[in-house]
Amino acid sequence: MADGHSRMNLQVNQEGRLRHLLDIAGLGSDRVVEILDTADSLLPVSQRSVKKLPLLRGKTVINLFYEPSTRTRMTFELAAKRLSADVLNLDIEHSSARKGESLIDTLRNLEAMHMDMLVVRHPESGSAHFFARHAAPHVTVLNAGDGRHAHPTQALLDVFTIRRHKPDFSKLTVTIVGDIMHSRVARSQIAALRALGTGEIRVAAPRTLLPAGMEHTGVRVFDQLEPALEGADVVITLRLQRERMQGAHLPSEAEYFRYYGLTAARMRLAQPDAIVMHPGPINRGVEISPEVADGAQSVILEQVTNGIAVRMAVMALTMGARGPAAAPGEPA
Ligand code: CP
Repeated sequence: MADGHSRMNLQVNQEGRLRHLLDIAGLGSDRVVEILDTADSLLPVSQRSVKKLPLLRGKTVINLFYEPSTRTRMTFELAAKRLSADVLNLDIEHSSARKGESLIDTLRNLEAMHMDMLVVRHPESGSAHFFARHAAPHVTVLNAGDGRHAHPTQALLDVFTIRRHKPDFSKLTVTIVGDIMHSRVARSQIAALRALGTGEIRVAAPRTLLPAGMEHTGVRVFDQLEPALEGADVVITLRLQRERMQGAHLPSEAEYFRYYGLTAARMRLAQPDAIVMHPGPINRGVEISPEVADGAQSVILEQVTNGIAVRMAVMALTMGARGPAAAPGEPA
């Protein structure tokens, strides 16, 4: 895997502009804040009767998803359309990938169609970096989730959502509960929370779902949920990533819910105004109870809505367009 320095070089061009978005690590807090500020300016676009800006007019965006997705794929597509791009979705099940076409040949063929931006999700960690390393100079690669490694736009939309409720990260205690071991979302969230100077980051999971050495990464590690929830301002629950588990990490889902499920009773240990988040898809009765998922503290669907603005921001910035103010002839 690329180290922080080469990751930075790959993500940022010689003029210092964001060129690809592959990972939060190495991005830097100023750039994270720039993306969030740009997303703030783009959020109202989705509430207009005409939900369009011309920032990506004439550009071609291709969604290449080798794994299932509802939220990420749909909101990347909506974001690109709201910026007036032409969007293509390659249906992997009916694509030549199923006939053995390699990633590099797929990339070369999409480049031959004059694409400007590739949004890629793939089960292998490092696949987004692979596409970025091999992409033509004018092509931007956005990582929509690679293996266990990173899901940067998810983390950005999560911190964007937190910031709208609780702007001062230095005062926050954020607890991430669930399958930390297999979660690209948790890795990216921790990097984004760190970049914004979060007061305390906690993770809570059974030992079998915690990566080794987590204690040395500056987060507080709990193998019981209740102490991890005490006084928390933000509680993020994660799905059990069954598709990435090899062997038995848990006795059963019922047992998991008994000890780690986010219930209304357990939420009373957090701050009274704590918010509840989940990147989705949620599994009711496994990591979260329906009453918490649908309750007054839940901002889970707000995360989905915010994902459009955050992905619009990333697309606009990588294409060199900063937001509504940069769109000639368009009301902000
Ligand atoms: N949060 C997330 O990545 O959801 P999808 O798998 O539906 O895109």
